[in-house]
Amino acid sequence: MPECFASRYHLFFLNMSPDYLFASFVRGIKVPPKWRSRFLRKSRLSSRRRVLLPSSVLLNCRPRAAPSSIFTLGEPDQDTPDAIIEAGVAALRSGDTHYTGSAGKLDLRKAICEKLAGDNAVTYTPDEIVVTSGVKQIIFEAFAATLQPGDEVIIPVPYWVSYPDIVRLNGATPIVIECLAESEVILTPEALEAAITPKTRWLIINSPSNPSGAVLSEAQWKGLLDVLARHPHVAVMTDEIYEKIVFDGVQNKTPVAVASDMKDRCLIVNGMSKAYAMTGWRIVYAAGPAPLIKAIVKLIRQSTTCTSAFVQIAAAAALRGDQEPVAKMVEIYRERRDLIVSLLNDIDGVNCSMPGGAFYIFPDIRQVLGRKGPNGAISSDLELVNYLLDEAGVAVMDGTSYGMPGFLRLSFAT
Ligand SMILES: Cc1ncc(COP(=O)(O)O)c(C=O)c1O
Repeated sequence: MPECFASRYHLFFLNMSPDYLFASFVRGIKVPPKWRSRFLRKSRLSSRRRVLLPSSVLLNCRPRAAPSSIFTLGEPDQDTPDAIIEAGVAALRSGDTHYTGSAGKLDLRKAICEKLAGDNAVTYTPDEIVVTSGVKQIIFEAFAATLQPGDEVIIPVPYWVSYPDIVRLNGATPIVIECLAESEVILTPEALEAAITPKTRWLIINSPSNPSGAVLSEAQWKGLLDVLARHPHVAVMTDEIYEKIVFDGVQNKTPVAVASDMKDRCLIVNGMSKAYAMTGWRIVYAAGPAPLIKAIVKLIRQSTTCTSAFVQIAAAAALRGDQEPVAKMVEIYRERRDLIVSLLNDIDGVNCSMPGGAFYIFPDIRQVLGRKGPNGAISSDLELVNYLLDEAGVAVMDGTSYGMPGFLRLSFAT
């Protein structure tokens, strides 16, 4: 197997849930029954893990052969720009190989404040910033710091698959709400108003969105913020990780820039992974009220201690350095987006809207369902995913995993 193919195949399986991989692994090895009961008995695992639902696509997905076309990967296929790599290497060579403070290096937090002021027109100070090793970690720590059993977190559909699980792992209840408007999948003020209860603690907004590519406009934010103004007990977490990947003049708006009084109940989550092709470096940040940031830092101190020192230096170089590589990458994505959307819309029964950001498209395939496959009618997006994989070697994600059956998610990042 050629090396590049092997690694792509490997990456495809990386997108599969640990539950499925673990189950396959366990099935494949022969261990004496005595060991089996000692190490693999389910009763020895924590009950907390049961809140994690297995990914729906993986329960059904048994590919006959390695896929030849992979549209599942959620990371840029570009390399990290040279200047950022050089900054990281120079940091290592100069001995920056020690622990840092748990909030992150002061210089990086200053660079993040400069970025927020310059790109987003919002003012933060370093004590309102924390750096971690991934968006999931920030969300996890923020929820661990704020949620009580019985609390509710509103998650608009379609959602990034990790949000509901992280809410459940912290003992709270995800409230997923439909937001299929006429031509867009965007949370409406009416749907938000109807979902808020006295138990609501957070609303999570991901814009630009994975999986839909939708980007909330300033007017749409205003509508939502008007609702939130009537419910001061609800905080907002904005996952802006795809902020820089926007097309056709669309701009990401952060809610604090739309209504400055939101600053004391908004946690902005962002990072370098997607914009600077730095997914493997594992570095992101959050900006929010100092008491919340302090609580998050306390949790980091007892979990990962800090993010790698040299990675923090490379991240500051990314934020302060030449932004031309980002613009070039976005142009490549725009071309891919235009091509894939037009090809998909040529297929009878497929309706695909043009995403304003991120590197995903989210075609509506409900009119395709019911058509004949080799084993009878294809009745769901999950069956269509299996059909595409088995018959054409094409790997895509099902909408069901993102809370929206009848849709597919295709990534054009690679
Ligand atoms: C919506 C969303 N948020 C966060 C992340 C993870 O970002 P990071 O790798 O920077 O932790 C992803 C990755 O796919 C994502 O799609």
